[in-house]
Amino acid sequence: MKKKPWSGRFEKETDKLVEEFTASIPFDNRLYKQDIEGSIAHCSMLSKCNIIKKAEAKKIIEGLKEIQREIESGRFKFDISLEDIHMNIERRLIEKIGAVGGKLHTARSRNDQVALDIRLYLRDEVNEIIKLIGALKKSIVKKAKKNIGVIIPGYTHLQMAQPVLFSHHLLAYYDMFERDEERFTDVLKRVNIMPLGSAALSGTNYPIDRRYVAKLLGFADITTNSMDAVGDRDFSLEFLSASAILMMHLSRLSEELILWSTSEFGFIELDDSFCTGSSIMPQKKNPDVPELVRGKTGRIYGNLISLLTVMKSLPLAYNKDMQEDKEPVFDTVDTVKASLSIYSKMLDTMQLKRDRLKKMVEQGFMTATDMADYLAIKGIPFRDAHEVVGKVVSYCIKNNKLLSELTLSELQKFSVKFKKDIFDFINVEKSVNRKDVIGGTSKRQVLKRISEIEEQL
Ligand code: ARG
Repeated sequence: MKKKPWSGRFEKETDKLVEEFTASIPFDNRLYKQDIEGSIAHCSMLSKCNIIKKAEAKKIIEGLKEIQREIESGRFKFDISLEDIHMNIERRLIEKIGAVGGKLHTARSRNDQVALDIRLYLRDEVNEIIKLIGALKKSIVKKAKKNIGVIIPGYTHLQMAQPVLFSHHLLAYYDMFERDEERFTDVLKRVNIMPLGSAALSGTNYPIDRRYVAKLLGFADITTNSMDAVGDRDFSLEFLSASAILMMHLSRLSEELILWSTSEFGFIELDDSFCTGSSIMPQKKNPDVPELVRGKTGRIYGNLISLLTVMKSLPLAYNKDMQEDKEPVFDTVDTVKASLSIYSKMLDTMQLKRDRLKKMVEQGFMTATDMADYLAIKGIPFRDAHEVVGKVVSYCIKNNKLLSELTLSELQKFSVKFKKDIFDFINVEKSVNRKDVIGGTSKRQVLKRISEIEEQL
């Protein structure tokens, strides 16, 4: 067991169990890069403000860079008795360059240090996630453009409702992911604020230059209250919350892909390379990827609730409870990145079953609303037209017919307003293309939306 950096006032050694229980090094070692980056900036500032000597700063910075190389080449030994990444690096620095290494922690506490590290970490990762959302959006538009003519059943209450373009359906997700992208961009605004200089909770006795550190690290601003700065994890919560909403969107899309690839729906075929088989049923081809994305949504919600709960009763300022912020954030970063990456690839390789869809869109009386509109255009109040068409549908069900299979004389028994042109009016493709309002499913509108998007990209 190594001597603790804070052992001065202690007469006994830490219990082994306590050491293991309180350590964060098993998971926060992944902050090593940010920790070193932050320490280098802090050290440069200490020297610029004449708090430490230039030569000392140089030694410290060189030592830190070497430590980074040690970690990256796997030579660094993380020590659980040194609790966390901050003390592991600091102790190694002193080992390497001697007592002068101990000057690095001047005007700093682990409380503002860890806040800085997570902000640096999240800044990098959120930018990565924004890029991955961009790639997914591109896959969506590409797929929508390629299949522009294909009509699928649109559902409400999971009952066939009205025919829509497949591309229109897919572009609904484009809009969702665009909002996600905006949310993550907004999260960055609160992440990108520099807390160092708050020290333990009250600020520091040294004449430091916080703005200089912010400038070195590319932060847009610095925090304005030291107690808030060390006690705040709102930015992580916002990240978790944006992630939860993003995963909810991916989960909804997953649910649709799973349904669409059943023999009952049969709208799509996921590529073999994205499915798995069953160890007992030879015929099975399972949509494991969308299922797992849907499943993983649960743990992302859990991560959000977990950190919200950690934070809910904490008095100011830093409390050890806050060490529990890291695992939910790391797990979310990993899960979101993996889900987004696999999704783009899966969409690229997914195929539509066009013949089957052609048959499906004739089912379900999906142009019944168009039929009612037809009568309404001919002067029948819409409510009455609705009633008439309801009876037509009921007649079809009893006689096992599609709307398009009725004869004109059958229709005229329900209303004399039906003329020959009704058949053209309830044609599925015509029905789709008549939804020619901004945001509607007509081919013209969807193509307009696609070119709008392409211009933005
Ligand atoms: N490992 C700690 C964490 O992740 C670092 C801050 C510890 N501060 C302290 N005063 N014990 O939160």
